[in-house]
Amino acid sequence: MTAVLGFGGYVPERVMTNEDWSRLVDTTDEWITSRTGIKERRFAAEDESTLDLSEQAALVAMKDAGLNPDDIDEIVVATDTPEVYTPDTASLLQDRLGCRNVPTYDLGGSGCAGWIQAIDVARARIAFEPKKVLVVGVELISRLISWEDRATCVLFGDAAGAVVLGPGGGKATLVDVISGTDGSKADILTLQTGGTRHPFTVDSAAAGDHQRLDMKGSEVFREAVRRMSSVTLDLLERLDKDIDDIALLIPHQANKRIIDAVGQKLGIADERVFVNVDRYGNTGSATVPFGLWEAYEGGRIQPGDLVVLTAFGAGFHWASAALQF
Ligand code: UT7
Repeated sequence: MTAVLGFGGYVPERVMTNEDWSRLVDTTDEWITSRTGIKERRFAAEDESTLDLSEQAALVAMKDAGLNPDDIDEIVVATDTPEVYTPDTASLLQDRLGCRNVPTYDLGGSGCAGWIQAIDVARARIAFEPKKVLVVGVELISRLISWEDRATCVLFGDAAGAVVLGPGGGKATLVDVISGTDGSKADILTLQTGGTRHPFTVDSAAAGDHQRLDMKGSEVFREAVRRMSSVTLDLLERLDKDIDDIALLIPHQANKRIIDAVGQKLGIADERVFVNVDRYGNTGSATVPFGLWEAYEGGRIQPGDLVVLTAFGAGFHWASAALQF
Protein backbone atom coordinates (compact mmCIF):
# COMPACT_ATOMS: atom_id res chain seq x y z
CA MET A 1 0.00 0.00 0.00
CA THR A 2 1.19 3.55 -0.69
CA ALA A 3 3.28 5.05 2.11
CA VAL A 4 4.30 8.58 3.03
CA LEU A 5 8.09 8.57 3.23
CA GLY A 6 8.58 12.22 4.18
CA PHE A 7 6.75 15.47 4.88
CA GLY A 8 7.76 19.03 4.02
CA GLY A 9 6.50 22.59 4.15
CA TYR A 10 7.62 26.14 3.57
CA VAL A 11 6.19 29.63 4.02
CA PRO A 12 7.85 32.87 2.97
CA GLU A 13 9.10 35.17 5.74
CA ARG A 14 7.10 38.31 4.99
CA VAL A 15 4.05 38.63 7.27
CA MET A 16 1.03 40.59 6.02
CA THR A 17 -1.38 41.39 8.86
CA ASN A 18 -5.02 42.46 8.76
CA GLU A 19 -3.85 45.92 9.80
CA ASP A 20 -1.57 45.99 6.75
CA TRP A 21 -4.57 45.21 4.54
CA SER A 22 -6.71 47.83 6.26
CA ARG A 23 -4.20 50.46 5.09
CA LEU A 24 -4.60 49.30 1.45
CA VAL A 25 -8.32 48.51 1.04
CA ASP A 26 -11.55 49.41 2.81
CA THR A 27 -11.48 46.70 5.46
CA THR A 28 -10.80 46.17 9.17
CA ASP A 29 -9.13 43.60 11.39
CA GLU A 30 -12.52 43.19 13.08
CA TRP A 31 -14.28 42.29 9.77
CA ILE A 32 -11.60 39.88 8.59
CA THR A 33 -11.27 38.17 11.99
CA SER A 34 -14.98 37.77 12.61
CA ARG A 35 -15.84 36.57 9.06
CA THR A 36 -12.80 34.36 8.43
CA GLY A 37 -10.68 33.85 11.57
CA ILE A 38 -7.62 35.05 9.62
CA LYS A 39 -5.21 37.37 11.49
CA GLU A 40 -2.21 37.29 9.17
CA ARG A 41 -0.78 35.54 6.12
CA ARG A 42 2.64 35.17 4.47
CA PHE A 43 3.54 36.80 1.17
CA ALA A 44 6.47 35.86 -1.02
CA ALA A 45 9.29 38.37 -1.42
CA GLU A 46 9.55 40.10 -4.79
CA ASP A 47 12.39 37.86 -5.90
CA GLU A 48 10.58 34.66 -4.84
CA SER A 49 8.29 32.71 -7.13
CA THR A 50 6.29 29.48 -7.18
CA LEU A 51 9.37 27.42 -8.05
CA ASP A 52 11.29 28.75 -5.02
CA LEU A 53 8.48 27.85 -2.62
CA SER A 54 8.13 24.40 -4.24
CA GLU A 55 11.86 23.76 -4.00
CA GLN A 56 12.00 24.63 -0.29
CA ALA A 57 9.07 22.36 0.62
CA ALA A 58 10.45 19.54 -1.57
CA LEU A 59 13.89 19.76 0.05
CA VAL A 60 12.33 19.43 3.52
CA ALA A 61 10.22 16.42 2.42
CA MET A 62 13.17 14.67 0.75
CA LYS A 63 15.35 15.26 3.81
CA ASP A 64 12.63 13.90 6.09
CA ALA A 65 12.40 10.83 3.83
CA GLY A 66 16.19 10.41 3.85
CA LEU A 67 16.20 10.64 0.05
CA ASN A 68 18.29 12.48 -2.53
CA PRO A 69 16.99 14.09 -5.73
CA ASP A 70 18.38 11.04 -7.58
CA ASP A 71 15.93 8.79 -5.71
CA ILE A 72 12.80 10.57 -7.00
CA ASP A 73 11.01 8.70 -9.82
CA GLU A 74 8.17 11.12 -10.61
CA ILE A 75 7.07 14.66 -9.66
CA VAL A 76 3.54 16.08 -9.45
CA VAL A 77 2.84 19.72 -8.59
CA ALA A 78 -0.69 20.85 -7.72
CA THR A 79 -1.01 24.60 -8.27
CA ASP A 80 -3.28 27.25 -9.71
CA THR A 81 -0.44 29.78 -9.65
CA PRO A 82 2.29 28.18 -11.79
CA GLU A 83 5.80 29.50 -12.26
CA VAL A 84 5.09 30.28 -15.94
CA TYR A 85 2.18 29.64 -18.30
CA THR A 86 4.06 26.81 -19.98
CA PRO A 87 5.86 24.51 -19.26
CA ASP A 88 4.62 23.02 -16.02
CA THR A 89 6.16 23.99 -12.68
CA ALA A 90 7.00 20.30 -12.09
CA SER A 91 9.48 20.13 -14.98
CA LEU A 92 11.20 23.29 -13.75
CA LEU A 93 11.29 21.76 -10.26
CA GLN A 94 12.88 18.57 -11.61
CA ASP A 95 15.72 20.65 -13.05
CA ARG A 96 16.05 22.91 -9.98
CA LEU A 97 16.31 19.92 -7.63
CA GLY A 98 18.72 18.09 -9.91
CA CYS A 99 16.52 15.02 -10.30
CA ARG A 100 16.95 12.49 -13.10
CA ASN A 101 14.88 12.88 -16.30
CA VAL A 102 11.84 11.37 -14.61
CA PRO A 103 8.26 12.18 -15.72
CA THR A 104 6.71 15.30 -14.22
CA TYR A 105 3.36 17.01 -14.51
CA ASP A 106 1.22 19.72 -12.95
CA LEU A 107 -2.30 19.32 -11.72
CA GLY A 108 -3.63 22.80 -12.33
CA GLY A 109 -6.96 24.50 -11.96
CA SER A 110 -8.29 22.23 -9.22
CA GLY A 111 -7.97 25.00 -6.69
CA CYS A 112 -7.62 24.02 -3.10
CA ALA A 113 -8.55 20.34 -3.60
CA GLY A 114 -5.69 19.92 -6.08
CA TRP A 115 -3.12 18.40 -3.72
CA ILE A 116 -5.40 15.63 -2.41
CA GLN A 117 -6.33 14.86 -6.02
CA ALA A 118 -2.60 14.76 -6.80
CA ILE A 119 -1.83 12.20 -4.08
CA ASP A 120 -4.76 10.15 -5.41
CA VAL A 121 -3.17 10.17 -8.89
CA ALA A 122 0.27 9.43 -7.40
CA ARG A 123 -0.96 6.41 -5.43
CA ALA A 124 -2.48 4.98 -8.62
CA ARG A 125 0.87 5.46 -10.38
CA ILE A 126 2.66 3.72 -7.48
CA ALA A 127 0.18 0.82 -7.53
CA PHE A 128 0.96 0.38 -11.23
CA GLU A 129 4.75 0.60 -10.80
CA PRO A 130 6.64 0.94 -7.47
CA LYS A 131 8.00 4.48 -7.53
CA LYS A 132 8.98 7.32 -5.24
CA VAL A 133 6.76 10.24 -6.17
CA LEU A 134 7.28 13.80 -4.95
CA VAL A 135 3.90 15.53 -4.64
CA VAL A 136 3.91 19.29 -4.03
CA GLY A 137 1.00 21.64 -3.32
CA VAL A 138 2.07 25.25 -3.85
CA GLU A 139 0.42 28.59 -4.25
CA LEU A 140 1.70 32.12 -4.67
CA ILE A 141 -1.71 33.69 -4.77
CA SER A 142 -0.51 37.14 -3.71
CA ARG A 143 1.05 37.56 -7.15
CA LEU A 144 -2.02 36.66 -9.22
CA ILE A 145 -5.04 38.15 -7.45
CA SER A 146 -6.22 41.72 -7.32
CA TRP A 147 -4.80 43.79 -4.46
CA GLU A 148 -7.81 46.08 -4.78
CA ASP A 149 -10.71 43.64 -4.40
CA ARG A 150 -11.35 43.54 -0.65
CA ALA A 151 -13.80 40.65 -1.02
CA THR A 152 -10.99 38.28 -2.06
CA CYS A 153 -7.55 39.78 -1.42
CA VAL A 154 -7.69 39.51 2.39
CA LEU A 155 -8.43 35.77 2.27
CA PHE A 156 -5.25 34.41 0.72
CA GLY A 157 -1.59 33.74 1.46
CA ASP A 158 1.45 32.03 -0.08
CA ALA A 159 2.86 28.63 0.97
CA ALA A 160 4.04 25.22 -0.18
CA GLY A 161 3.70 21.72 1.24
CA ALA A 162 5.08 18.43 -0.03
CA VAL A 163 5.29 14.71 0.60
CA VAL A 164 7.30 11.91 -0.92
CA LEU A 165 5.11 8.87 -1.54
CA GLY A 166 6.44 5.38 -2.09
CA PRO A 167 5.34 1.77 -2.33
CA GLY A 168 5.86 0.84 1.34
CA GLY A 169 7.58 1.49 4.66
CA GLY A 170 7.80 5.15 5.63
CA LYS A 171 6.06 7.11 8.36
CA ALA A 172 2.41 6.59 7.47
CA THR A 173 0.24 4.58 5.13
CA LEU A 174 -2.02 6.37 2.67
CA VAL A 175 -4.97 4.11 3.37
CA ASP A 176 -7.59 5.56 1.05
CA VAL A 177 -8.70 8.62 -0.92
CA ILE A 178 -12.13 9.62 -2.19
CA SER A 179 -12.61 12.59 -4.46
CA GLY A 180 -15.44 14.03 -6.53
CA THR A 181 -16.38 16.92 -8.78
CA ASP A 182 -19.55 18.82 -9.68
CA GLY A 183 -18.67 20.66 -12.89
CA SER A 184 -22.08 22.34 -12.98
CA LYS A 185 -20.83 24.55 -10.11
CA ALA A 186 -17.75 25.76 -12.00
CA ASP A 187 -19.08 29.32 -11.94
CA ILE A 188 -19.07 29.79 -8.16
CA LEU A 189 -15.27 30.19 -8.05
CA THR A 190 -13.54 31.10 -11.30
CA LEU A 191 -10.88 33.27 -12.90
CA GLN A 192 -11.85 33.56 -16.55
CA THR A 193 -9.42 35.86 -18.29
CA GLY A 194 -6.30 34.38 -19.86
CA GLY A 195 -7.82 31.18 -21.26
CA THR A 196 -9.01 30.62 -24.83
CA ARG A 197 -12.55 31.81 -24.13
CA HIS A 198 -11.33 35.17 -22.81
CA PRO A 199 -7.75 35.68 -24.00
CA PHE A 200 -5.64 38.49 -22.56
CA THR A 201 -6.12 41.80 -24.32
CA VAL A 202 -4.73 45.25 -23.61
CA ASP A 203 -8.23 46.29 -22.48
CA SER A 204 -8.71 43.31 -20.17
CA ALA A 205 -5.29 43.86 -18.63
CA ALA A 206 -6.00 47.57 -18.12
CA ALA A 207 -9.29 46.65 -16.43
CA GLY A 208 -7.46 44.15 -14.18
CA ASP A 209 -9.63 41.28 -15.45
CA HIS A 210 -6.66 38.87 -15.38
CA GLN A 211 -6.71 39.18 -11.58
CA ARG A 212 -10.48 39.08 -11.14
CA LEU A 213 -11.39 36.06 -9.07
CA ASP A 214 -15.16 35.71 -9.34
CA MET A 215 -16.33 34.14 -6.12
CA LYS A 216 -19.88 33.59 -4.93
CA GLY A 217 -18.70 33.55 -1.33
CA SER A 218 -21.79 32.24 0.44
CA GLU A 219 -22.39 29.50 -2.16
CA VAL A 220 -18.77 28.39 -1.93
CA PHE A 221 -19.15 28.39 1.86
CA ARG A 222 -22.27 26.18 1.72
CA GLU A 223 -20.80 23.71 -0.79
CA ALA A 224 -17.53 23.56 1.16
CA VAL A 225 -19.27 22.53 4.38
CA ARG A 226 -21.61 20.08 2.64
CA ARG A 227 -18.95 18.37 0.52
CA MET A 228 -16.08 18.21 3.03
CA SER A 229 -18.31 16.68 5.69
CA SER A 230 -20.03 14.19 3.36
CA VAL A 231 -16.84 12.99 1.65
CA THR A 232 -15.23 12.51 5.07
CA LEU A 233 -18.19 10.38 6.20
CA ASP A 234 -18.03 8.38 2.94
CA LEU A 235 -14.34 7.73 3.52
CA LEU A 236 -14.91 6.61 7.12
CA GLU A 237 -17.71 4.30 5.99
CA ARG A 238 -15.50 2.72 3.33
CA LEU A 239 -12.79 2.17 5.98
CA ASP A 240 -15.32 0.85 8.51
CA LYS A 241 -14.24 3.59 10.96
CA ASP A 242 -16.17 6.29 12.76
CA ILE A 243 -15.53 9.87 13.85
CA ASP A 244 -14.06 8.79 17.19
CA ASP A 245 -11.33 6.90 15.33
CA ILE A 246 -9.96 10.15 13.87
CA ALA A 247 -7.03 11.43 15.95
CA LEU A 248 -6.68 14.56 13.85
CA LEU A 249 -8.77 16.06 11.05
CA ILE A 250 -6.84 18.43 8.77
CA PRO A 251 -9.40 20.33 6.70
CA HIS A 252 -8.65 22.85 3.95
CA GLN A 253 -7.93 26.16 5.67
CA ALA A 254 -10.13 28.70 3.88
CA ASN A 255 -12.17 30.15 6.70
CA LYS A 256 -12.40 29.28 10.41
CA ARG A 257 -16.20 29.41 10.17
CA ILE A 258 -16.15 26.75 7.43
CA ILE A 259 -13.82 24.58 9.55
CA ASP A 260 -16.07 24.99 12.61
CA ALA A 261 -19.20 24.15 10.60
CA VAL A 262 -17.59 20.98 9.20
CA GLY A 263 -16.47 20.01 12.73
CA GLN A 264 -20.00 20.51 14.05
CA LYS A 265 -21.58 18.55 11.20
CA LEU A 266 -19.20 15.66 11.81
CA GLY A 267 -19.51 15.89 15.60
CA ILE A 268 -15.75 15.92 16.16
CA ALA A 269 -14.19 17.68 19.17
CA ASP A 270 -12.44 21.00 18.42
CA GLU A 271 -9.12 19.76 19.77
CA ARG A 272 -9.07 17.05 17.10
CA VAL A 273 -9.46 19.56 14.26
CA PHE A 274 -6.29 21.21 12.96
CA VAL A 275 -6.41 24.99 12.45
CA ASN A 276 -3.71 27.35 11.20
CA VAL A 277 -5.84 29.62 8.99
CA ASP A 278 -5.38 32.38 11.59
CA ARG A 279 -1.65 32.52 10.81
CA TYR A 280 -1.49 31.74 7.08
CA GLY A 281 -4.91 32.45 5.52
CA ASN A 282 -6.03 30.37 2.57
CA THR A 283 -2.97 29.07 0.72
CA GLY A 284 -4.97 27.13 -1.87
CA SER A 285 -3.61 23.70 -2.74
CA ALA A 286 -0.85 24.18 -0.12
CA THR A 287 -3.09 24.37 2.97
CA VAL A 288 -3.49 20.61 3.46
CA PRO A 289 0.12 19.45 2.81
CA PHE A 290 1.52 22.45 4.70
CA GLY A 291 -0.87 21.84 7.63
CA LEU A 292 0.02 18.15 7.59
CA TRP A 293 3.71 19.02 7.77
CA GLU A 294 3.12 21.56 10.58
CA ALA A 295 1.10 19.02 12.58
CA TYR A 296 3.71 16.30 12.03
CA GLU A 297 6.66 18.60 12.75
CA GLY A 298 4.93 20.09 15.81
CA GLY A 299 4.36 16.67 17.41
CA ARG A 300 0.57 16.73 17.04
CA ILE A 301 0.60 13.34 15.34
CA GLN A 302 1.61 10.18 17.21
CA PRO A 303 2.34 6.68 15.97
CA GLY A 304 -0.97 4.81 15.64
CA ASP A 305 -2.96 7.95 14.80
CA LEU A 306 -5.52 7.98 12.01
CA VAL A 307 -5.28 11.38 10.33
CA VAL A 308 -7.96 12.47 7.88
CA LEU A 309 -7.40 15.22 5.31
CA THR A 310 -10.25 16.94 3.51
CA ALA A 311 -10.48 19.78 1.01
CA PHE A 312 -12.70 21.55 -1.51
CA GLY A 313 -11.90 23.88 -4.34
CA ALA A 314 -12.81 25.51 -7.62
CA GLY A 315 -14.27 22.97 -10.04
CA PHE A 316 -16.23 22.35 -7.81
CA HIS A 317 -13.96 19.61 -6.40
CA TRP A 318 -13.84 17.87 -3.05
CA ALA A 319 -11.66 15.12 -1.60
CA SER A 320 -10.74 13.27 1.59
CA ALA A 321 -7.74 11.08 2.35
CA ALA A 322 -6.87 8.87 5.33
CA LEU A 323 -3.34 8.41 6.67
CA GLN A 324 -2.56 5.72 9.22
CA PHE A 325 0.56 6.62 11.22
O1 UT7 B 1 -10.61 28.02 -1.19
C1 UT7 B 1 -11.85 28.53 -1.61
C2 UT7 B 1 -11.83 30.01 -1.47
N1 UT7 B 1 -13.01 30.67 -1.09
C3 UT7 B 1 -13.74 30.47 0.04
O2 UT7 B 1 -13.53 29.56 0.79
C4 UT7 B 1 -14.82 31.46 0.30
C5 UT7 B 1 -15.95 30.92 1.11
N2 UT7 B 1 -16.77 32.02 1.60
C6 UT7 B 1 -16.38 32.76 2.66
O3 UT7 B 1 -15.37 32.48 3.29
C7 UT7 B 1 -17.26 33.93 3.05
O4 UT7 B 1 -18.40 33.92 2.25
C8 UT7 B 1 -16.52 35.30 2.91
C9 UT7 B 1 -15.45 35.42 3.96
C10 UT7 B 1 -15.89 35.43 1.52
C11 UT7 B 1 -17.52 36.43 3.09
O5 UT7 B 1 -18.19 36.31 4.33
P1 UT7 B 1 -19.76 36.50 4.42
O6 UT7 B 1 -20.13 36.41 5.84
O7 UT7 B 1 -20.37 35.50 3.46
O8 UT7 B 1 -19.94 38.00 3.94
P2 UT7 B 1 -20.79 38.56 2.70
O9 UT7 B 1 -20.24 38.05 1.41
O10 UT7 B 1 -22.20 38.32 3.00
O11 UT7 B 1 -20.45 40.09 2.75
C12 UT7 B 1 -20.95 40.88 3.77
C13 UT7 B 1 -20.52 42.31 3.54
C14 UT7 B 1 -20.75 42.85 2.15
O12 UT7 B 1 -21.23 44.16 2.28
P3 UT7 B 1 -22.82 44.46 2.10
O13 UT7 B 1 -23.11 44.09 0.67
O14 UT7 B 1 -23.52 43.60 3.10
O15 UT7 B 1 -22.91 45.93 2.40
C15 UT7 B 1 -19.37 42.94 1.54
O16 UT7 B 1 -19.24 43.99 0.61
O17 UT7 B 1 -19.13 42.45 3.79
C16 UT7 B 1 -18.54 43.24 2.75
N3 UT7 B 1 -17.14 42.85 2.60
C17 UT7 B 1 -16.16 43.37 3.35
N4 UT7 B 1 -16.17 44.33 4.31
C18 UT7 B 1 -15.00 44.63 4.89
C19 UT7 B 1 -16.60 41.91 1.77
N5 UT7 B 1 -15.29 41.84 1.98
C20 UT7 B 1 -14.98 42.74 2.95
C21 UT7 B 1 -13.79 43.10 3.60
N6 UT7 B 1 -13.85 44.05 4.55
N7 UT7 B 1 -12.60 42.55 3.30
